[in-house]
Amino acid sequence: MAIQKVGVVGCGLMGSGIAQVCAQSGFTTVVREVGPELVDKGLRGIEKNLARSVEKGTLNEAQRSEIRRRLTGTTALEDLKDCDLVAEAIVEQLPAKRELFAKLDSICPSSTIFASNTSSLTITEISTSTKRPDRFVGLHFFNPVPVMKLVEVVRTIATDEKVYEEMVAFGAKLGKTPVRAHDSTGFIVNRLLVPYLLDAIRAYENGLGTLEDIDKGMKLGCGYPMGPFTLLDFVGLDTTYYIANIMFEEFREPAYAPPPLLKRMVLAGRLGKKSGQGFYKY
Ligand code: CAA
Ligand code: NAD
Repeated sequence: MAIQKVGVVGCGLMGSGIAQVCAQSGFTTVVREVGPELVDKGLRGIEKNLARSVEKGTLNEAQRSEIRRRLTGTTALEDLKDCDLVAEAIVEQLPAKRELFAKLDSICPSSTIFASNTSSLTITEISTSTKRPDRFVGLHFFNPVPVMKLVEVVRTIATDEKVYEEMVAFGAKLGKTPVRAHDSTGFIVNRLLVPYLLDAIRAYENGLGTLEDIDKGMKLGCGYPMGPFTLLDFVGLDTTYYIANIMFEEFREPAYAPPPLLKRMVLAGRLGKKSGQGFYKY
């Protein structure tokens, strides 16, 4: 069955990017948030990105209107009932994701494929909140979704082979390069990236250098597009904290343990760029 209509749940940093890319790639897309102001905020962000593309000449006016026509926002989960694929990008917490998918399981027909954009949770554990673990995958996109070329397509031991290949093909239809990953905590990229980001915080706690100098070191010395603290603020410190806890719980290795400073920054509401302050002020 060809995917025609995509539901996206969550219209924050990642959900808005996923919704934009789906609509831009020709799919009818409906994105769900928990409140009307969050729907508006997410859609406004997408409109800003599309306007920038029109200004740069990479989209024309007609294409922008067509993309905008294909994309709708909603607060009602029931509006996702006729989607061929539902991609979830809500908060990185297992109970919230399981509760959401259990509801979706009773709303959507048994043919609908479910995907989670989780960074670190076990896809198998999310999928067992539904009666369709065979139609459940991880589709792990990267931030900012309209720009980053990768999607990790994650299979569990229960994922149907045809569903999996359909999702690999779907990733390519979005203009992304799909890589195949098993349902191992952090998949490929976060398994390597997260310890590096946490190490940067520990280095700062130990007085290795200023935030700016550590950032400059990795940016100018290694050619990374962003230094670790700029990237942490960009990803979100709350999300990073959840990810670190989940990975530490799984592997019990100090490399994944959230540094005390990260916990305190989250407790203080300094969540990074999205809250106006993280390691830096915005
Ligand atoms: N949404 C859409 N487009 C964006 C954007 C956004 N949020 N931010 C930047 N862009 C676009 C710009 O419009 C620009 O487009 P053009 O080339 O067409 O003009 C392009 O990206 C480059 O932007 P800038 O020139 O403004 O800035 P830059 O060169 O510094 O690039 C960046 C910005 C692409 C974000 C770059 O800094 C970068 O690659 N940073 C690292 C990002 C990264 O590592 N992401 C992975 C995070 S980890 C993750 O996602 C997994 C997880 O589970 C936590
Ligand atoms: P975010 O905080 O920016 O957005 C999450 C959004 O989900 C919020 O707007 C919230 O209102 C909404 N939400 C919560 N429960 C909901 C529900 N039941 N229905 C609809 N919306 C709901 O977080 P984010 O950075 O977009 O992360 C979302 C997911 O993507 C997480 O699982 C995260 O681990 C993963 N992820 C994040 C990044 C990143 O760089 N931030 C990268 C890849 C994957």
